[in-house]
Formats: sequence, C-alpha cells, structure tokens
Amino acid sequence: MRKQIAAANWKMNLNQNEAETLLNELLSLPLSLQAHQEAIFAVPAIYIPLATHKLTGKTNMYVAAQNCHQKDNGAYTGEIAAPMFASVGVKHIVLGHSERREYFAESDALLVEKVNAVLAINSTPIFCCGEPLAIREAGTQNAFVETQIKNSLFHLAEDQITKVVIAYEPIWAIGTGKTASSEQAQEIHAYIRSVFATKYGQPVADQISILYGGSVKAANAKEIFSQPDVDGGLVGGASLVATEFAAIINALK
Ligand code: PGA
Repeated sequence: MRKQIAAANWKMNLNQNEAETLLNELLSLPLSLQAHQEAIFAVPAIYIPLATHKLTGKTNMYVAAQNCHQKDNGAYTGEIAAPMFASVGVKHIVLGHSERREYFAESDALLVEKVNAVLAINSTPIFCCGEPLAIREAGTQNAFVETQIKNSLFHLAEDQITKVVIAYEPIWAIGTGKTASSEQAQEIHAYIRSVFATKYGQPVADQISILYGGSVKAANAKEIFSQPDVDGGLVGGASLVATEFAAIINALK
C-alpha cells in the first residue's frame, strides 16, 4: 500500500516553549501509526533539534523542513541549504508551498533546482501544487496543476519520482476554513495520478503519495482521507492544536 501521511505545517508560528508544549501534548495522546503510515512535522527550522529530540525513538514520525535553498552552500545570508538539513537528520523538505510561491516569488524553474537539491541529499521533497480561486472558478484547475507538475518534476527519472510526495493544496482552501469537498479532492487527486501515469506508467503513479491540504481538521480528515487517491494531508492551522492533529493522524487509512 502507498504511504499514508499526516504532515504538519507549522509555518511561522509558536515560540520555543509553545513548540515544546505542543509536541509534549501531542505525544501524550494515543497515536496509532501502522507500518504504511507516517506523521511528519514541518517545524520552523530553528526548532528542528528540539522536535528531533522529542521524536527520538518514535516509529514512523519525522521532522521536516518547510523550505531549503537550491544551492549546497555559499554567500546566501539567512538561507539554509539542503545538505545542512541532511546533516541534522532531516529526511523530508516541503517545497513550493503556495505561500512561498506567492510571497517569495518561487517559480516552477526555481523549484526544479530545489527538488534536485533535496533528492541529492536522499531526502523526500513534499512538493506542493494547487490553484488559486480564479482558476477553480474558471474550471481549469486540472490544467493549472498539471503544468506546475510538468514544469518542476517531469525532468526526474522513474526511480526519482517515486521518492517525491505530492501535496495538492487549493489556495482558496488554505487557512480559509473552506475545504474542497471530498469529491473535489478525489477528482483532482485522480487527475494528478493520471498525469504521472501518462508520463511514468501506472505502476509508478500508483506508488506516489498525494496529500490533500487546505483546512484539514479533525472533523473532516477521515472523510477526505477515505478517498481512494487521497493519501493523507498537509495540515496548517489544525496541526497547532494537539488534539486536532492527533485525530488527523488517527484518521489515516
Ligand atoms: P491550513 O494550511 O490547514 O491552515 O489550511 C494548509 C497548508 O498551507 O499547508
């Protein structure tokens, strides 16, 4: 079975005490992760050592970065390179979140470099894609997302693409409380899988985990994750509440 993943995206939230309290609370709750299920915590980079320490010895739980620079090192003040994350044990890096595309002008071409940088350190890119409201209203979301995927991922070989996790996040559903219906999520997830099947073949496409993101919470996770092509979620706001994120982890299929 494909990996089913609950990924927390803390974004730029919490001070260190709050981060520690959240992890303590979450880990004190009953969490059932089966062999094919993972919980991933994309925390602010400064809390990676803390989160790594807290998750030591926990099975199928990983700390992730929210972004990395495309170069391995150099004069890029304030940036963090993929090999630096590798050196502290990070195995997953979120790339191309819509907030980075919007506020930091990350282009499809830049994301090619970042994807390559993450694969080069043997880590998993959690590659975000998703359309703005105007595109959804025009009904052209499939073509929009297909272009994002083709432009940033289709240079990869078959043995590389299976290392990538996709996070489909409609921008109109992020942080808005508006969730795509489970039918809408299933429809575009199936489409995304078909895009990979056309390029790499169905057996390869069937191995790729495709997460849904956008106002996932305890109350809707089970319904969304139950869709056949939805392999878990990338969760912002609800990942900052221990009981919410615990329920989301436990809603994985
Ligand atoms: P949200 O954010 O769950 O707060 O909508 C999701 C995301 O941006 O990854």
